Parts: sequence; C-alpha cells; structure tokens
Amino acid sequence: MIRAVYPGSFDPVTNGHLDIIERSAKVFDELIVAVLVNPDKKGLFNIEERVELIQRVINHIPNVKVQYFSGLLIDFMKQQDAKVIIKGLRAVSDFEYEFQMSLMNKKLDPDIETTFMMATSKNSFLSSSSVKQVATFGGCIKDLVPDEIIPDIMKKVNNL
Ligand code: PNS
Repeated sequence: MIRAVYPGSFDPVTNGHLDIIERSAKVFDELIVAVLVNPDKKGLFNIEERVELIQRVINHIPNVKVQYFSGLLIDFMKQQDAKVIIKGLRAVSDFEYEFQMSLMNKKLDPDIETTFMMATSKNSFLSSSSVKQVATFGGCIKDLVPDEIIPDIMKKVNNL
C-alpha cells in the first residue's frame, strides 16, 4: 500500500492541480493533498478555506483526502506515515526550485522520495498567482479553475 502526499499552497486550487490529483490517484493507493504554508507567498484564502475548496472538487475521487499542516512537509509525512511526495512540473522554470526543495527534504529525511509528474500541456501556463491576478482585474477564469469554486474566488477578490 503506497500512500502519497501532494503538497502545495493551493491558493486557490486550479485545474492544473486537479489534473495532477486525478492522475496521481490512479498511480498510488492513497493520496493526501496537503495544504501547507509557503512562507514566500502572501495568501488570498486562509488555510481552512483552501482545504474546503479542495474538498469540494475532489469529492468524486474515493482514494483522495485533503488535510492542512503548519510546519515542515517532512514532519507531515512522518505523521501520516507516507513516503512519497508528488510535485507537478509545468516547465523548466519550475525545475530549479523543485530540485532544491527535493534535495532539502532528502537531507531532512532520506527515506522520503519526491516524484514529479508533468503538467498536461493545456495547463502548463496555469498558476494560482496568475488566476488571482486575472480574477482581481476582472478577467475570465473559466477553464482555469473548477467551475464550482469560481464564485468563491470572485467574491474574495471583489471584497479585497
Ligand atoms: O504550491 P507551492 O507554493 O509551490 O508549495 C510549496 C510548499 C507549500 C510545498 C513548500 O513551501 C513547503 O513544503 N512548505 C512547508 C515548509 C517546508 O517543509 N519547507 C522545507 C522545504 S525546502
């Protein structure tokens, strides 16, 4: 039984994330989507809200659940008894940052493996930050995020 963890800031979850979740759920027995704080990023949604949005869009996948954790990813992995981290890669530009994080996590716990899944080409330009920018300035975010969370994003950016 292999339990994998897909960590990220998910602020908010995008169709790119959902694609990686759906594909990883086919490869691993159990998948935990872990909402963690990325200290380099300023948040739009709080952690509980991010979890709730993810919960809503993963309901149809039985072997996936979502949790949040404040602290090191490697400590969450231990707590969940999971050995595999999944990260999505969109382009070469993601590589350096992900490479560095995977080596740091390896240094912190050599038993944990980071695996990478390539984003599908139609999502290779997508990021939570660009979704937030487009929404903030009144652009259309349909096809970028799941339809059922569009109203939540619009409401949030309009109340800023
Ligand atoms: O979606 P993101 O913002 O690229 O996700 C980055 C995230 C949240 C996975 C990363 O910042 C993280 O693992 N944060 C938890 C703190 C931690 O373990 N840091 C050490 C990794 S170098």
